[in-house]
Amino acid sequence: MQVSVMERTIVELTAPTKGILAADESTGTMEKRLKNVGVQSTEEIRRSYRESLFTASGLNSYVSGVILFEETLKQCSATGMPFPQLLEAQGIVPGIKVDKGTQALSNFPGDKFTLGLDGLVERLAGYKEQGARFAKWRAVFTIGDALPSCRAMEVNADGLARYAAICQELGIVPIVEPEVLMDGNHTIERCASVTEEVLATVFHALHQHRVALEYMLLKPNMVLPGTDSPWQATPEEIAVATLRCFRRTVPAAVPGIHFLSGGQSDEAATANLNAINARSERKPWQLSFSYGRALQAPALKAWHGEAANMAAGQQALLKRARLNSLARQGKYQASMEID
Ligand code: 13P
Repeated sequence: MQVSVMERTIVELTAPTKGILAADESTGTMEKRLKNVGVQSTEEIRRSYRESLFTASGLNSYVSGVILFEETLKQCSATGMPFPQLLEAQGIVPGIKVDKGTQALSNFPGDKFTLGLDGLVERLAGYKEQGARFAKWRAVFTIGDALPSCRAMEVNADGLARYAAICQELGIVPIVEPEVLMDGNHTIERCASVTEEVLATVFHALHQHRVALEYMLLKPNMVLPGTDSPWQATPEEIAVATLRCFRRTVPAAVPGIHFLSGGQSDEAATANLNAINARSERKPWQLSFSYGRALQAPALKAWHGEAANMAAGQQALLKRARLNSLARQGKYQASMEID
């Protein structure tokens, strides 16, 4: 295990005022995001949009790492610089999404499992050569009356642990992402109990697969009521429930918890991260962000495919990145949203 290489990556990724930009939408997901703002998805459009994100001046003050999709890892800037090098030159660590998406779990209606272990060693070795220093694998869990099943938790936890062990063998820091989805009308208490069960199962599997917790990062959901729940919660209530859940399940050896935004509005994702960091109780890990939609949505909207709007898109991204950097330190206030 290449401990010193991973140690350096962890120190850089968990820098105290920074978080991670998730720009690893698969081609299908990116097509949906672009369609939402009326833009056709071509390889060149995806490349130039990603270039506009990665060249936003000052992004490196707020962002320590960027997660890329396979297609983007091998793309270059207009001046011919490969994106991983372009990011490294700014002190931003390039990472790569390595799972192959989800599939229905046979005999467990409503449950899914994540694909991608076959050939992972070879793929990772190639990504590493292209400059990736960390990786991401996402497992998803839907909350329902009898969901997720124990079997779905176990099979996905095992996949996450196998992936993490393979990454560490190659000196790549694994981001372990078990996402309990917000979809549904469940209460915050139900989300807390499912998230607790999922995380306990994941850390049991990581232990069984001898994953070194010091050289991994966790990318979980916050503990939230379902999107359609009549009982919504304040940032304070979300912070209390989230911290209680993580203190019960995430060992102190894990250096950082980088939350996903999961469909929260960009302002809610910032306010909730701030409330989590502002609380005084014991928090043995760095608590930061690894947001996709909550960082990019306003940028996509401002840009909507026009070269002339590139600067406006970059400003929108920088604003969200700066506010999330403050939230990561517990220093954000809603009044800062007004420009
Ligand atoms: P969101 O922040 O949009 O949930 O995306 C994060 C991510 O990387 C999901 O895998």
